[in-house]
Amino acid sequence: MNFRLKERFGRKFDEEIRFFKGWKSNMRAVGSIVPTSGVTARRMASVVDPHSGLPVLELGPGTGVITKAILERGIKPEQLVSVEFSTDFFNHLSLRFPAVNFINGDAFDLDKTLGAMRDATFDCVISAVPLLNFPMDRRVALIEDLLSRMAPGRPVIQISYGPLSPVIAMPHRYQIAHFDFVVRNIPPAQLWVYRKPH
Ligand SMILES: C[S@@+](CC[C@H](N)C(=O)[O-])C[C@H]1O[C@@H](n2cnc3c(N)ncnc32)[C@H](O)[C@@H]1O
Repeated sequence: MNFRLKERFGRKFDEEIRFFKGWKSNMRAVGSIVPTSGVTARRMASVVDPHSGLPVLELGPGTGVITKAILERGIKPEQLVSVEFSTDFFNHLSLRFPAVNFINGDAFDLDKTLGAMRDATFDCVISAVPLLNFPMDRRVALIEDLLSRMAPGRPVIQISYGPLSPVIAMPHRYQIAHFDFVVRNIPPAQLWVYRKPH
């Protein structure tokens, strides 16, 4: 095996071990059982507009698979704000991507978590927070909070594992679109997009 392949598989294995440890210590917060696949991460990052000049908000980066895809989309690390609840994942991410603005905090309490960035307008939100583990009223409140931090029409993209949108329809408050079903993910992933109407 050449050096690059060894390095790639080594990193993937490290990510899986780290993820499994995180999952064992807090199954409810971590949600899925293995890291998001690269294919899914790139699909999610595809909604980022690298030319908007606005920062991107990521929620629940975990091992950083989606973080990497967002950076590869052309966002400067200083323009990425990423909120992770687990201190273990946070410490690892801060070492792996030193210039990204990681915040060890709660995505459901963004006014406090974002600190000086609380009034920022974001280009979009990329979320892997396990919404299905939270009550519906908190999911709706989170989506509306996120949409209030972005220009009308810009997306919040959310990964989920059930057949339905993890957030109920409220057409007068936000629009829901099914974005993709990614089979190359364990378990297969549904991607949903939420937008504030123009
Ligand atoms: C399904 S995992 C994300 C997997 C990630 N895409 C990866 O491949 O490693 C969900 C992540 O959301 C984080 N999380 C859960 N609740 C959170 C919250 N309230 N605020 C921020 N992050 C949260 C978990 O710690 C975990 O890292």
